[in-house]
Amino acid sequence: MIELKTSGEMDAIAAAGVVVARTLAALRGHARPDRRLSELDELAAGLVRDAGAKPTFLGYHPRFAPTPYPAVICASRNDVVVHGIPGRERLRAGDLLSIDLAVHVDGWCADSAISFVVGGDDHAAADDLALIDATERALQAGIDAACPGKRLGDIGAAVAAIARGAGFGMVADHGGHGVGRSMHEAPHVPNEGRPGYGLRLRPGLVFAIEPMLTASGLDEYRYDPDGWTLRTADGSRAAHVEHTIGITEDGPRILTAS
Ligand code: MF3
Ligand code: CO
Repeated sequence: MIELKTSGEMDAIAAAGVVVARTLAALRGHARPDRRLSELDELAAGLVRDAGAKPTFLGYHPRFAPTPYPAVICASRNDVVVHGIPGRERLRAGDLLSIDLAVHVDGWCADSAISFVVGGDDHAAADDLALIDATERALQAGIDAACPGKRLGDIGAAVAAIARGAGFGMVADHGGHGVGRSMHEAPHVPNEGRPGYGLRLRPGLVFAIEPMLTASGLDEYRYDPDGWTLRTADGSRAAHVEHTIGITEDGPRILTAS
C-alpha cells in the first residue's frame, strides 16, 4: 500500500531531514585522513541524540540481512557501494567515501546520503570527482522529474540517462523507496525506467531517490561475509547520494536539505 502524506506530515519528515542534513555536513567536515570510520559513527550517534532524534539504521533488521545493522551510519569507501559498516580502519586522503544516515523524529523518518573525497578535491583522482559529479547530477535529474502527473518510470529514466550517458554503471536490483513512519515503504523507486510508465506521481508521495554509480560501468556486485557490505564485483569505485523528497502541487520538495 502506498500512503500519501499531508503537507503537515511532510513538515514532520522535513524536521527529521534537517537533523540528517546537518549531521551529514558535520561528518563530512570530520572525515579527514587518519580518522577511524568508527569515530565518525560515534560522532553521528552524539549529534543525532543531541538533536532529539533516533538513529534509524541501528538495530534495523531487514529480511535480506543476517544480523541487525550494528551502527548509526553506513560508511561506504572506495569499492563499497552501500551499507558499509563503520569499523576501526582509518581514512586516507583520496578515499571516496559515501555516508548514509536516516533518523526518526517524533515517529517520522528521513534518509539521505552524500559522497565526497577524503582530504578535499586536491587529493582526489579526477575519475572519482567525475563519478561523484555524475551521481549528484543523476539524483538532481531524478528529483527534477518528480512532478505531479509524471510517472515513476520518468524518474528512473532521468537517473539512468545521466549515469549511463556518462559511461558509468548502476548497481543492479537497488534503488530508492517510499519513506514515512518507516524508512522503507512502498513504492520501490528504480534507478532505471521507461518514460511514461509506472506509478503516477501525486502530491503526498514521499520517497527517497538514491543513485548508486560504478566507475567501471559494470552493474554486478557482491556482499562481504558480514552480509551487509555491498561491493562492486570488479573492485571499481562507486558513489552513492540520496535525498528524501515529497511531491507537492508545485513539484518536488527536498525533505533532507539543511
Ligand atoms: N539508505 C539506505 C537504504 O535505504 C540505508 C539502509 S542501511 C540499513 O537502503 F542499515 F538501515 F539497512
Ligand atoms: Co535509502
